[in-house]
Amino acid sequence: MKYMLDSGNLADVKHCNEFYPLAGVTTNPTLVAKEKMEFWELVKEIRNIIGPDKMLHVQTVQTEAEKIVEEAKLLKYQVGGNFFVKIPISEEGLKAVMMLKEEDIGVTVTAIFTPAQALLAATAGADFVAPYVNRFDNVVGDGARVVEEIVQEFDRYGMNCQVLAASFKNVEQIHKCALSGCHAVTISADLFKNTLSHPMTDVAVAGFEKDWDSLYGDQTILDFEIK
Ligand code: G3P
Repeated sequence: MKYMLDSGNLADVKHCNEFYPLAGVTTNPTLVAKEKMEFWELVKEIRNIIGPDKMLHVQTVQTEAEKIVEEAKLLKYQVGGNFFVKIPISEEGLKAVMMLKEEDIGVTVTAIFTPAQALLAATAGADFVAPYVNRFDNVVGDGARVVEEIVQEFDRYGMNCQVLAASFKNVEQIHKCALSGCHAVTISADLFKNTLSHPMTDVAVAGFEKDWDSLYGDQTILDFEIK
C-alpha cells in the first residue's frame, strides 16, 4: 500500500514526512487555497520537504487540453522530482492525458466516481486514477465498492494504472479500500493519526509501563550496565 498525504499544509507535510511511511503528497485547488500562500512558494516548499524521490501530485486549474498540457509542463519543470499532474476527468482532460503521455509526464486522473470513468482514464494512459470515496458515500452509498470494482476491472484488462483512492473521512473507509487491493490511498494528517491509534493500544502500553516501573523505576535499558 502506498500512503499519500492529501494536504497543502506545510506543518502537516513536515510532520507526516517525518513520522509516517509517506509515498508522497497530493494537493488540489481547495487544499492549496486554504493555505493562503503564494502558489509557487507553497508547492516548491512541499517538494523541498519531501525530497525529489517521493511523489508530488499537483492539480491543474486549466480546462482545455492544450492549456492543461502547457500547465503540466510548467509544473513539472518548476516542481521537479517525482511529479504527477492531477487532471479532473472530462473530454479535454482525456485529450490532455493522451498528449502528456507523449511528453513523459505522470498523470493522475481525479474526481472519479464510477468504474467506467476509471477504465476510460486508464485506457487513455493515466498512471493513477483517484476515486472519491467519502464524497460518493455521502451521496449514494458505497465508495469503497466503487474502488473494488475499479481494481477488478484493471486486473481483468491488465491495465498499467494504479488506483489512488481519495476523499476519506474515517479509518473504516481506508480499510475497506485496502481489502479491495487498491494500490494507494491519500489521506489527511488527522487520518494518519487515527489509523495508528486505538484505545486498547493505549491500555496495553500503560500496562507495560506500570509493570516495568514496578521493578526498575525510571531506569531504561540504556541505563543498565552490560555484563
Ligand atoms: O484530493 C481530492 C480528494 O482527496 C478530495 O477529498 O476530503 O475534499 O472529499 P475531500
